[in-house]
Amino acid sequence: MEALRVEGLSKNFGGVSAVDNVSFSVEVGERLVIIGPNGAGKTTLFNLINGQLPATSGRIHFLGEDITTIPTHRRAHRGQARAFQIISLFLNLSVLDNGLLALHGTKPYRFKLFRSINHYKVISDKVQDTLRALELWEKRDELVKNLSYGEQRRMEIGLGLALQPKLLLLDEPSAGLTMEECSGIIDMIKNLGSDITVVVVDHDMDLVFGVAERIIVLHYGQIIADGAPEEIQADPRVREIYLGIEE
Ligand SMILES: Nc1ncnc2c1ncn2[C@@H]1O[C@H](COP(=O)(O)OP(=O)(O)O)[C@@H](O)[C@H]1O
Ligand SMILES: [Mg+2]
Repeated sequence: MEALRVEGLSKNFGGVSAVDNVSFSVEVGERLVIIGPNGAGKTTLFNLINGQLPATSGRIHFLGEDITTIPTHRRAHRGQARAFQIISLFLNLSVLDNGLLALHGTKPYRFKLFRSINHYKVISDKVQDTLRALELWEKRDELVKNLSYGEQRRMEIGLGLALQPKLLLLDEPSAGLTMEECSGIIDMIKNLGSDITVVVVDHDMDLVFGVAERIIVLHYGQIIADGAPEEIQADPRVREIYLGIEE
């Protein structure tokens, strides 16, 4: 079954075609990695998929439904989660408060004025379980800005996962991490359930080849290669443009 299908998707910024007529689909449970030089349009593509930016043209289908024009929060309710290239935690709030805020909005009834004490209990138990699993419970009263970058990253991705997404979009999860922290992220992605579809953008080749079942290469907003990791590694154009290897 298809999780995501993008058809003829484009995004122009003034004269720049950041994403240029891109089409691909991702099966439920697939691990797709998107690579490409800086400025290739990877982050813009994610912004289109999760609705941060409107598409100039093209369609986006998520779990069989056309979501091209629906707002970001409704895409989130349908099961999209995203960890940003830039940390999206509240740096001046505690670890615990960040957990509460992230998990509070899981259900569509979040704007209800009166809620049972039981509802809050369910959320705070869930936050506690999540922070324990992330090995951050001991640091629950720390301000997030005082955590290491690796811990911030782990927390951000972990909170995204606690929302039990159907599609996880990760934009450069390895950026700024030590090798050890990066291998922690690789394990985390590998251990995700097969019901979760994962699309990752990254530059770290250990991560790329560690998690990818399939790789798409973007170049000036266009797909120049789409295939199994071995095919991508052997593709002469990719080697020349992206891996910088001349034959
Ligand atoms: N909000 C924006 N306004 C204008 N140009 C943008 C904007 N966001 C991205 N771009 C341009 O679109 C192209 C793709 O950028 P981006 O998607 O960030 O690439 P990547 O994530 O692959 O490095 C670049 O030329 C970039 O300068
Ligand atoms: Mg980017």
